[in-house]
Amino acid sequence: MSRTALIAGNWKMNLDHLQAIATVQKLAWTLKDAHYDYDGVEVAVFPPFTDLRSVQTLISADKLQIRFGAQDLSEHDGGAYTGDISGAFLKALDAAYVIVGHSERRTMHGETDEIVAAKTAAAVRHGLVPVVCVGETMEDRTARGAGVVPVEQLQVVLDSVAPADIVVAYEPVWAIGSGQAATAEQAQEDCSALRRAIQTAWGDERAAPTRILYGGSVKSGNIASFMREPDIDGALVGGASLDATEFAAIARYKHHVGR
Ligand code: 13P
Repeated sequence: MSRTALIAGNWKMNLDHLQAIATVQKLAWTLKDAHYDYDGVEVAVFPPFTDLRSVQTLISADKLQIRFGAQDLSEHDGGAYTGDISGAFLKALDAAYVIVGHSERRTMHGETDEIVAAKTAAAVRHGLVPVVCVGETMEDRTARGAGVVPVEQLQVVLDSVAPADIVVAYEPVWAIGSGQAATAEQAQEDCSALRRAIQTAWGDERAAPTRILYGGSVKSGNIASFMREPDIDGALVGGASLDATEFAAIARYKHHVGR
């Protein structure tokens, strides 16, 4: 089964709308100069909400092949939910994706597996592809075994949402923003466990095409090692996605396989 790789940049709470325009322009120019093949490896950015309209306008005016998504959405479709953003609004902006259940939202905003599942359902309902984030601490991994906690987190989504086009991102907590990425072998172990869980719950016809990303201190210097693994189909990149040159180098990982 061949899956189109996805290199996704989660900007977190960085870059205002003017900086977003400059960053996406620079990314597009850098990739154009390199004759980038977007059909071979998809590139998407996940800017803050306030940047989305600017990014959409730029992408559509310049006919860029870069895709974009939001970092979160409400589980509700609309109404009295001050500060929340409906998936309907994101769809109206032509967003392709939306991140759900990032570990920063799980820990800082108390998002439970059930909330993450409800947000995943909301994304699917509005025609957005959810990037469902799961992860584990090193303590979880040592005490419970590789992949056990991430699979438990994903299981809640798989049990409550009908089979759909989703992306899963495995982000070990110790690797996020630490400069200490998981090894490719560790990441593969977890990503294959996640794929098996999808297979059991949703069947092979859904598990085979589902893209599973690795996230946590991904850089141009280590991306190739992850992309060589059979169950890793891309990366969710934080810090390194803020620098257009570095992010473009990550997206061009095929040029440094074997380095
Ligand atoms: P870093 O790439 O900065 O470690 O962040 C990973 C992440 O959390 C992406 O969602």
